[in-house]
Amino acid sequence: MRGLLTLHDLSVNKIQEIINYALKLKGGFSKNYVGKKMATLFFENSTRTQYSFQTAMLNLGIDVISFNAKASSVQKGETLYDTVRTFEALGLDGVVIRHSVDNYFAELENIKMPIFNGGDGASNHPTQCLLDLMTIYEEFGHFEGLKVCMIGDISHSRVAHGNIDVMTRLGMDVYIAGPEEFNDGSAKHLDFDEAIKTCDVIMMLRVQFERHQAKMQLTEKEYFNRYGLNMDRVLKMKDKAIIMHPAPVNRNIEIADDVVECQKSRIYKQMTNGVYVRMAVISMVLDGEL
Ligand code: CP
Repeated sequence: MRGLLTLHDLSVNKIQEIINYALKLKGGFSKNYVGKKMATLFFENSTRTQYSFQTAMLNLGIDVISFNAKASSVQKGETLYDTVRTFEALGLDGVVIRHSVDNYFAELENIKMPIFNGGDGASNHPTQCLLDLMTIYEEFGHFEGLKVCMIGDISHSRVAHGNIDVMTRLGMDVYIAGPEEFNDGSAKHLDFDEAIKTCDVIMMLRVQFERHQAKMQLTEKEYFNRYGLNMDRVLKMKDKAIIMHPAPVNRNIEIADDVVECQKSRIYKQMTNGVYVRMAVISMVLDGEL
């Protein structure tokens, strides 16, 4: 299949190539793909990924179709394959898909049009991982030896699952922290307050209430007290350490209001970088380099 579905099969060299290209695009770009048409097919809610992909397409000169699943024939029972096959038949040059089913793309293997994964279940969110990596690379200039901890709702997080694999392959020392009920063993566990004092990157994760099968064991107040990033904790971080969060954020649950845009936060920079990463990925796929 063409496009970008997961980072698992991409070499570290190719990942670095995408980041380098995104950084180049951040310095200036031109609309090289006028006449191309792409669509965003989001079956789950999104602000950043959907509109960042659309901004990337517009920056490249690509015409954008925004698919509304609730006003489409999906409501009449149309399958995912039939929806995507329809967009292929319409002559589109690519689609971005977000879906709640893990590995939804397994049923799309006959599709020849490029598919860009905007997130599948709790498994992959490749462009989020790439924008996280671009932000870290911009900050430190390298990956090797950096200590990163992802904190919070690990078990429901496609961001954590994608990042752990690729960050480890890039030579980063990757840890998880947070409540035991969300610890799925996907990386080495670290005490939260120890992580605050020793890590270069503190990556807070959203508590994904909409994915929980049972009520969280801690109250929101207890969670904030034990695992929330507040200003007292920020003041204990290393001088050059940074705060990241894929967003949307639950203010005053996993991160305090006054920390979201504090001096160490790179949360809005992550969003800005997302546009350039998506421009890089779309360009490289359309040019046959990815
Ligand atoms: N980070 C992220 O995927 O945000 P959205 O759900 O708003 O796209």
